[in-house]
Amino acid sequence: MTTTSIAGRATAVAARATDLSKVYGQGETRVIALDRVSVDFGQAEFTAIMGPSGSGKSTLMHCVAGLDSFSSGSVRIGDTELGSLKDKQLTKLRRDKIGFIFQAFNLLPTLTALENITLPMDIAGRKPDKQWLDTVIEMVGLSGRLGHRPSQLSGGQQQRVAVARALASKPEIIFGDEPTGNLDSRSGAEVLGFLRNSVRELGQTVVMVTHDPVAAAYADRVVFLADGRIVDELRAPTADSVLDRMKRFDAKGRTS
Ligand SMILES: Nc1ncnc2c1ncn2[C@@H]1O[C@H](COP(=O)(O)OP(=O)(O)OP(=O)(O)O)[C@@H](O)[C@H]1O
Ligand SMILES: [Mg+2]
Repeated sequence: MTTTSIAGRATAVAARATDLSKVYGQGETRVIALDRVSVDFGQAEFTAIMGPSGSGKSTLMHCVAGLDSFSSGSVRIGDTELGSLKDKQLTKLRRDKIGFIFQAFNLLPTLTALENITLPMDIAGRKPDKQWLDTVIEMVGLSGRLGHRPSQLSGGQQQRVAVARALASKPEIIFGDEPTGNLDSRSGAEVLGFLRNSVRELGQTVVMVTHDPVAAAYADRVVFLADGRIVDELRAPTADSVLDRMKRFDAKGRTS
């Protein structure tokens, strides 16, 4: 699969959603969280997803990452169609190819920080690359907290464990649901800088949900969601251009 980048060169597609819809509930409680969304995430590209609360950002990431089922449409990771996989195959694909930083960190309370970071690899029976693990732990500034359990860590520290866990196994795609939402601006900038460097230098693919125009400016591209639909896209974003675009949505009553 290839797509044409802004520079006109063909880039491989790391993940693709086609006409993806997700409906929750029935009757009065029916919510269309995603309404025929089609989007490509290019390999070695850093994409930010933005949009008002409830616009479907988390749902989109969960469906594309194979963490949640969808109502119709299709999702591909590389050349693999998720809908064609059995549960076991899906679990394996998730484990081998995807790193996820959850909006709620999803750490196991009985494990230490280090055990949480290496858990996905332990489950998969894979040995962590020690040097890389040290680099990641150093980058997120957790060296002094590796033996602590989540309840003994601050919110920001727990988020950094979640970031390190997603990076540790060098997945093909990292999905982050507000990965810097609980960090102070300096730690946030460090994590974002690291994510961007891993895209530039290692060809890592990153997809990140954020509400913060400054965080979005680290990305190569911003995709805007409203009411379960993609309503706009911005290449080479700056904090100002993102903010400008957000203001225009608000002025139009969120484009609906
Ligand atoms: N398990 C669920 N059951 C019913 N409705 C749900 C469920 N999960 C999400 N929704 C609804 O789907 C819509 C999209 O939710 P989603 O969590 O994707 O939004 P979001 O853009 O990530 O918002 P936020 O910025 O607040 O995290 C919302 O209207 C939400 O209420
Ligand atoms: Mg969300």
